[in-house]
Amino acid sequence: MTRVLGIETSCDETAAAVVSPEGEVFADVVASQINEHAPYGGVVPELASRAHLRAIVPVVEQALEEAGGLAALDGLAVTQGPGLSGALLVGVQTAKALAERAGLPLVGVNHLDGHLLAPRLRERGEDPVDLAFPYIALLASGGHTALYRVDGPGRTTLLGQTRDDAAGEAFDKAAKIVGLGYPGGPAIDRRAKEGDPAAIAFPRTMLGRGSFEFSFSGLKTAVARHVAKHGRPTSEAALADLCASFQAAVVDVLARKLSDAGRAEGVERLVLTGGVAANRGLRARALELATSRGQSLHVPPVKRCTDNAAMIAYAGALRLEAGERDAELVVYSRDPARRRGRFRADGTLIPRRS
Ligand code: KG4
Ligand code: ZN
Repeated sequence: MTRVLGIETSCDETAAAVVSPEGEVFADVVASQINEHAPYGGVVPELASRAHLRAIVPVVEQALEEAGGLAALDGLAVTQGPGLSGALLVGVQTAKALAERAGLPLVGVNHLDGHLLAPRLRERGEDPVDLAFPYIALLASGGHTALYRVDGPGRTTLLGQTRDDAAGEAFDKAAKIVGLGYPGGPAIDRRAKEGDPAAIAFPRTMLGRGSFEFSFSGLKTAVARHVAKHGRPTSEAALADLCASFQAAVVDVLARKLSDAGRAEGVERLVLTGGVAANRGLRARALELATSRGQSLHVPPVKRCTDNAAMIAYAGALRLEAGERDAELVVYSRDPARRRGRFRADGTLIPRRS
């Protein structure tokens, strides 16, 4: 097994990549649909499926062209879920057809497994990344916010997740309330840099000592109440203060729980991933906390934190190399392992020993 093509279409990115089981990336192509969804303030599933249909062939062709063509491949991997069903079907059907035509083995990959392995990816010709198992990863994106212990490929323990909104979703909703565009994360991040994080006292929902669950709906309500009472900020300075105060509330909770999870699990290697890992406030706060506690923090490049196919190809390559194959590939829109527990690479839950 030397080169595996990965395909990712679970949400609003059409992506294809070619990666080795060692995590070396030979091609990594992403077509974003962000402009198509922006007018609606969020991802519209029906539009996403149609955009994937338009983009999938050129995206796969480009990845293959950069990595030596179909003949250079040993296998294929595709995101099976969780995600939007109509979007997932486009990738799965494409992967099935390609595998059939080329006579190559195919595996389905849990999107979250991909995110959790992404920090080990390296560019072509680079040395392996210095990140050994186990590590504790915070995955914070528009669709997910959860803490995991990662002991190896497919050996993942969910430590806790959000009870309501994902962190990225909270950024997007807060941005909408104050009149900033979609996606809200980058817009708030930019303004927060100029503002005072202590200007407005927004709540930090910790849900009790030792809890690794999250809740961001109260914070969203607090922002809405603030704006209802004082109106939308009328000056750049007031907007910056509001953004900085909101961001600090999200980031404090995320960074604190990541570091606490490391302590609780006795694992000193911490990882930030998902779209929200691009946030400068989060990176700074997490690094500050980790350093003060003798923990190390690893943050992959932004293009590997957001949705991409390199992480899917890599997770799939490891499964293919272990001799795994998926004859029947179904899609699942919800993560089959929503409750605390270990789950296999195909997303099915491993029963807990009693
Ligand atoms: O991982 P991602 O690209 O897509 C999925 O949700 O799977 O994450 C997108 C989310 C959006 O909610 C966006 O607002 C947020 O990540 N985001 C950020 C930043 N960049 C993207 N949130 C905070 N600060 C940022 N710099
Ligand atoms: Zn994702």
